Amino acid sequence: MKTIELKVNGIRVSREVSDNRRLVDFLREDLRLTGTKEGCSVGECGACTIIMNGKAVCSCLVLAVQCEGAEISTVEALHHEPIGLKLQNAFVRHGGTQCGYCTPGILMSSKALLDSNPNPSDDEICEALEGNLCRCTGYHPVIKSIKAVLKSVG
Ligand code: FES
Ligand code: FES
Repeated sequence: MKTIELKVNGIRVSREVSDNRRLVDFLREDLRLTGTKEGCSVGECGACTIIMNGKAVCSCLVLAVQCEGAEISTVEALHHEPIGLKLQNAFVRHGGTQCGYCTPGILMSSKALLDSNPNPSDDEICEALEGNLCRCTGYHPVIKSIKAVLKSVG
């Protein structure tokens, strides 16, 4: 067991965790932030994507003990930032919210993209989403939603 201190959605958190506790479990079970979903558990579907120190990462592949001193954002806090709120609204308006299971991860990948690149090209949008698998209606409404945000801030 080890005590870790980190910031989650802007709030300081200090918790004792076992060495093999995964970040996805820490978020969902210890902090009750169940907006982050778990699909494949092996880093392939992107359902568990959160933002860690500014980068979109799969929380199923990160150990909680690796998060000492980290800043983590989850979908629960997305609406606290203007660009996150715009993304949420655009996803609703343009049908980017599809099965709901993949949506939190897709939103977090989109947010990480726009934080680092406020004016991405179509190729850059596709590249940012390539770790988020969607088996329903595809990516068009998602990409349309992101582009709607670009127009609204451009
Ligand atoms: Fe983490 Fe699929 S649950 S990538
Ligand atoms: Fe979940 Fe398409 S959004 S399968």
